[in-house]
Amino acid sequence: MSGQRNLRRGCGNRGAAVPVVALISAATPREITSAAALLRAGRLVAFPTETVYGLGGDATNDRAVAEIFAAKGRPRFNPLIVHVPGLAEAEALAVLDERAREVAARFWPGPLTLVLRRRNDCGLSLLACAGLDTVAVRAPAHAVAQAVLRAAGRPIAAPSANRSGRVSPTEAAHVAEELGDRVTLILDGGRTPVGLESTVLDLSGEAAALLRPGGVTLEQLTELLGPIAKPAAARPKSPGMLASHYAPSLPLRLDAAAAYPGEALLAFGPLAPPGFAEVLWLSRSGDLAEAAANLFAMLRRLDRPPLTGIAVMPIPEHGLGRAINDRLRRAAAPRQG
Ligand code: TXA
Ligand code: MG
Repeated sequence: MSGQRNLRRGCGNRGAAVPVVALISAATPREITSAAALLRAGRLVAFPTETVYGLGGDATNDRAVAEIFAAKGRPRFNPLIVHVPGLAEAEALAVLDERAREVAARFWPGPLTLVLRRRNDCGLSLLACAGLDTVAVRAPAHAVAQAVLRAAGRPIAAPSANRSGRVSPTEAAHVAEELGDRVTLILDGGRTPVGLESTVLDLSGEAAALLRPGGVTLEQLTELLGPIAKPAAARPKSPGMLASHYAPSLPLRLDAAAAYPGEALLAFGPLAPPGFAEVLWLSRSGDLAEAAANLFAMLRRLDRPPLTGIAVMPIPEHGLGRAINDRLRRAAAPRQG
């Protein structure tokens, strides 16, 4: 993670001049200052959060926000999460009632996104919110994200820094693989500790609703809020809840107990069934936080020929296991288009 690395396209093109496709810089105070200047100038900067790397752009700048959608190949009906340092900055964008303030006080900064009613005078690009009268707001805990947000001094729209529908990046190099020269600067803050995206909780209506399980568990939220609804699957309120998402190129098979020829295995717990071409352990000790942190990087590592598919052992459906299983089910779902 020392100094800057230029990643170049066309490894097979030895000797020829190859264009620089992405600049990865260690997230030093100096680089954080230039990242903030780039963001204020309307450029896109990828930075680590405690969940996954985000593709940041000025959320008040229509052109920057449009570039985020273009860089990801993301449908414009799918709104972005707006990142702020904390509650005070969130209050300028959205209407928070006592319940929302209590949830924010308990879980911010952290891996929780709140969908709230948008203030008319929020100054946000309408494109960032896909024209909805709500806005998704999150205060990330990662020190680099906090420093970038404070230095930028304005709300930053930041979806996960992957091409739409693909696996989210948990390392700076993943961002370069996904986005290449579509991002001006990638701040390298090492591996993201949580490894799965934030929980998305809708507090814009009377009943709190879980739109996406993530880094804050349903159990933690229920303890504070009581029973929490899940929206009807038929009409997802959160477009990121669409069936096929987080998908590797190879087919993914869940709840695997035995090997298919040429398949790789993501193992969980001390014992793995025999016969797989390659085995990576999400967690040998059966620790869900460790499995979450490893999931996306291991899916990427196994997503290559001559492997024929990726099988995953069963993961318990509680705590972070819900978010892991949610991502795995989407990664295994029939592909759109
Ligand atoms: O952990 C994370 O949340 C990461 C890091 C970078 O912060 N970001 C992230 O963003 O995962 P993205 O864009 O990949 O996912 C945002 C999710 C999508 O499912 C989107 O549909 C939903 O939040 N969302 C955003 N605004 C919404 C709104 N107003 N109402 C309902 N869902 C919304
Ligand atoms: Mg995403």
